[in-house]
Amino acid sequence: MAATSSTFFARHGKLERHSLLLLIAIIVVVSIGGLVEIAPLFYLQSTIEKVDGMRPYTPLELEGRDIYIREGCYLCHSQMIRPLKDEVERYGHYSLAAESMYDHPFQWGSKRTGPDLARVGGKYSDAWHRDHLIDPRSVVPESVMPPYAFLAKKDLDYRDVADKMRAMQRLGVPYTDAEIASAQDDLLAQADPTVSGRALKSHYGSKLNVRDFDGDPTRVSELDALIAYLQMTGTLVDFSTYKADAPANKR
Ligand code: HEC
Repeated sequence: MAATSSTFFARHGKLERHSLLLLIAIIVVVSIGGLVEIAPLFYLQSTIEKVDGMRPYTPLELEGRDIYIREGCYLCHSQMIRPLKDEVERYGHYSLAAESMYDHPFQWGSKRTGPDLARVGGKYSDAWHRDHLIDPRSVVPESVMPPYAFLAKKDLDYRDVADKMRAMQRLGVPYTDAEIASAQDDLLAQADPTVSGRALKSHYGSKLNVRDFDGDPTRVSELDALIAYLQMTGTLVDFSTYKADAPANKR
């Protein structure tokens, strides 16, 4: 035993002292690792398991998501529930890859100063979000979250929403050309329940929140878009039909 390990070290010592040999050995070892990780991606159609209910974001939600990114909410909030008991008990079902398949860029985050938001949709009323975003300490006295009152005062600038959807389409989000063409109408129909939303429903299905989110029916504000986005997070996947070890969900 002692003899074999000392010859191994002698040989390895030779390798370590010969820079060219070491370089070749490193390339061989790294390329094996690379092949094992990269090669399957060329023949697997998708590494994301299919789940029922996931749909691309509506134009209003997409605008809300952009505000979420613009304001840096991801710096304090993650959107990724890990499959650990304490997280699942606090936040709900662990996040599935499919739930961020239309996120470009994804919003998993890397820091939780505040709680995870992957399933915050439906947890609170719109009025709660409104109060909380305008003045977090009015509803959570010990909160260290900054106020975002200006969002309620700013009209949402959605002139380029169709372009944003087209960009997403290029990145693989399955928006149809008809959905892109009616982006502005669909956005207004979701934020204002008095506008007919028939096209909106045919484009994005029935799992939709259609209402005036910010409590001010006279305008579509940035707060409308952000709350529409927050109220959608984590609500799309139908967990009543999802089974983690069902053969259809295995690849
Ligand atoms: C400086 C860190 C920080 C930033 C930036 C921040 N938050 Fe928070 N957030 C917190 C903290 C801390 C809490 C927990 C206390 C509370 O509820 O206010 C919280 C709570 C929340 C909650 C309630 C979550 C729950 O499950 O109770 C929501 C929703 C939320 N934040 C949304 C946002 C949005 C949207 C933005 C960006 C516009 C944002 N936050 C930016 C720190 C932050």
